[in-house]
Amino acid sequence: MNAPAPTAPLFTPFALGSVTLPNRIVLSPMGQHSAIEGTATDWHLMHLGQFAVSGAGAVFTEATAIEPSGRISRGCLGLWSDEHARAFARISAFFAEYGSAKFGVQLYHSGRKGSMLKRWEARNFVPVEQGGWPIEGPSALPYHGRPEPLPFSRDRLREVRDNHVRAARLAESAGFDLIELHAAHGYLLHQFLTPLANSRDDEYGGSLANRMRFPLEVFDAVRAAFPPQKPVGVRVSCSDWADNGWTLEETLEFAAALKARGCAYICASAGGTTPDQHIELSPGYQVPFAERIKRDIGIPTMAVGLITEAEQANAIIAKDQADMVALGRALLYDPRWPWHAADKLGVPLTYAPPYRGEYPNMRSTDRLKPGATKK
Ligand SMILES: Cc1cc2nc3c(=O)[nH]c(=O)nc-3n(C[C@H](O)[C@H](O)[C@H](O)COP(=O)(O)O)c2cc1C
Repeated sequence: MNAPAPTAPLFTPFALGSVTLPNRIVLSPMGQHSAIEGTATDWHLMHLGQFAVSGAGAVFTEATAIEPSGRISRGCLGLWSDEHARAFARISAFFAEYGSAKFGVQLYHSGRKGSMLKRWEARNFVPVEQGGWPIEGPSALPYHGRPEPLPFSRDRLREVRDNHVRAARLAESAGFDLIELHAAHGYLLHQFLTPLANSRDDEYGGSLANRMRFPLEVFDAVRAAFPPQKPVGVRVSCSDWADNGWTLEETLEFAAALKARGCAYICASAGGTTPDQHIELSPGYQVPFAERIKRDIGIPTMAVGLITEAEQANAIIAKDQADMVALGRALLYDPRWPWHAADKLGVPLTYAPPYRGEYPNMRSTDRLKPGATKK
């Protein structure tokens, strides 16, 4: 028997619990601000559906709020009602029928960064009298020119934790394969982690152990509410890139605590706490974070940020810097990025049956290339 043909590491499967991604390419969560009262619309079926059949290994919804006041804008997706779950079930049924990608939901609460206009309208805060909602946070520390958030009482913290649980149960009924908890980009769980947003003097503020307490309580509750064989990962900001902010060293401690609790992977992003962050952007600028967490903590990681080229993405996996690569804008720009990457790396790729033509074993995307003579 012939040995199987070598394949590019980017196109090898990756198992997260009982969920196996067919390859390492992930659509990064990207807010669409196109939901109606939290419910997914035809836009989401089109937007996410195109990536279901893109050849990616996993596709994430945008940040999806666990309660109405956890949204960034009125257009954000939500997962607090059966109606929300039904709308997502329509999309997950599309994934199951046509897609090769696994379907994940990113759960979050916006905390002090909520009640905004839709991104494309303006970056403006919406006060309650104009249809917004009171914003809450760990402490009365406002985000850059916005109103002071109302500090969460303990009862509200319990409620927010329980609303994450409700969302995790609804995620299962909607047919999601995996959950990612959003603890990055200056949203609520990150607000608890960073001293720049958390100045509490109770058991949820002060020491690192105290600042990690609420995010870990939420993780435990979500993990317990989602089927054990299905993965729950966490997206973290590995640094605030600002003086006196959250650091990579603290991220390593957080990742170790998450690993001990059964976290499936860490997506290593950064920033979002303050507009005063100093970031030097370059290709793959956050990859060293993913590499460090993977090496030091021994938990699978997902790299994200300015990963745009097939060879670059393949090298990240080949050099074991991360286990998965999440792409945002490059996939928006070219939703067939995985096809084109497979082509560049010489890997045959199976694609959705309606695109395969009349010959069942004609699976190569070569057939679809402009100018191809093969049927
Ligand atoms: C339009 C848009 C919306 C985004 N929304 C989210 C989001 O909902 N959740 C999240 O974790 N990151 C969000 N991000 C960040 C991306 O997931 C990703 O981390 C970032 O764009 C860097 O990756 P890239 O260079 O491949 O685009 C968003 C990015 C864009 C461009």
